[in-house]
Amino acid sequence: MSDTLTSTMIKNKLPGHFFNSENIGFCRVPGRVNLIGEHTDYNGFSVLPVTIKKEVQCAFSRRDDNEIHLFNEDPRFQPLSFLNQPEILPSPTGSWDNYIKAGVIALNKKFKVRTFPGFNLFIKSTLPIATGLSSSSALVITASLAYLKILGKELGRDISRLELAELMAEGEHFVGTKGGGMDQTVILNGEEGHACKIDFFPIRTALIPLFEDYVFIVCDSTIRAQKTGACLHRYNAGPRMCFLACALLEKHLRNEFDNDLHIKRLGDLWSGDLCLTFNEILDFTEQAIPKEYLSLKEIAYLLDITPQDVRKLWLGEIEEPEKGFPLRARIQHVITEHKRVELSRDALLANDAYTFGRLMNESHSSCADNYEISIPELDILTQIARKYGAIGSRLTGAGFGGCTVSLVPRAKVDYFMENVEKQYYQKYLGLPSAQGMFIAETCPSASYIN
Ligand code: GLA
Repeated sequence: MSDTLTSTMIKNKLPGHFFNSENIGFCRVPGRVNLIGEHTDYNGFSVLPVTIKKEVQCAFSRRDDNEIHLFNEDPRFQPLSFLNQPEILPSPTGSWDNYIKAGVIALNKKFKVRTFPGFNLFIKSTLPIATGLSSSSALVITASLAYLKILGKELGRDISRLELAELMAEGEHFVGTKGGGMDQTVILNGEEGHACKIDFFPIRTALIPLFEDYVFIVCDSTIRAQKTGACLHRYNAGPRMCFLACALLEKHLRNEFDNDLHIKRLGDLWSGDLCLTFNEILDFTEQAIPKEYLSLKEIAYLLDITPQDVRKLWLGEIEEPEKGFPLRARIQHVITEHKRVELSRDALLANDAYTFGRLMNESHSSCADNYEISIPELDILTQIARKYGAIGSRLTGAGFGGCTVSLVPRAKVDYFMENVEKQYYQKYLGLPSAQGMFIAETCPSASYIN
């Protein structure tokens, strides 16, 4: 854990043949739990995550050549190496060196690196993978912190935490996921005892103290959502449909207002030149997107281009649903979720846990019905949580598996945990005991350690 972690604890685990150098650096990088604001970040709307005391820990040392050698304490991740050079190509999807490559490539570009130093990197982690707690971004940030030091660059002097977050959010697209900047930003800017409200384009953060009498409990559904595996396309379908919806809105609003109008992301409706109200956005959505479901042909007709171009520009290989693409529902989720984040921030500031809990429940329904990122296990887990003491419960992270987060009065933690163990893990899943259920203890943002 971060408060007790020392470099000696990592040193004890180091593979000797890797680290014969005296000059070793260390860092720790936490995961995150998103309290509310799902699939809003890449749309330019806000999120409200916390950093948690489950983290990636790392040792690194410079090499004399330009090879990057990776070693992971977890035997599922075999040692790997690659050359640091002007063009670094991706390894096959799912290979863990891609996350390190993502960090290295982004910094090479940012600092116009010409000499391409090599380094050794040792990883050990208490952060579960593929459970929606941001293990991927934590690894990319870990690579970036290690490589910054190898390059002789100082965090805070040569690059700010917000700049690094923005750079790594973009850099992570190298692994194939078209995510937003929530994970990288909170990992680098979160704070113990606080939620981190993040707004985007440009990125800015505000720390908000958490409730004292309530805790957030994370429960792993045990269904894995491997973002670089089968879930990649399902995840990317979210951004793809939202950007397509923007194109339809842009076309409509250009006719209404100004031919030069640009709607790059849904957030531009709210905070860009237009500054539309919540209801205006809903009205214009109904006008621009005339039906709940639109076929590919209908979308092409509305945009006055061919269906092939709609695929090329926005949809890629996403399969056309039988009923058509539910673009209105996607917008409905994004803008109501943004409103819920704003109201949740207010509820935190007012110490109003019940309102916060209600917003979490509404968020889960919208994630399930309008964004279609829930699965039966997450629905059942949130229902059980609410039945046994949670005043709010929702899926957290990208969806399609992973974890839920529930707001529980401190006084009811044992009652909650005992019953969720019985009803979900034992009765519903048939497991002997609970797995991956813990109180989300918050912690400081990523840092170097001595
Ligand atoms: C993933 C992405 C984030 C965000 C969430 C959904 O964690 O990395 O940027 O889009 O999904 O809220």
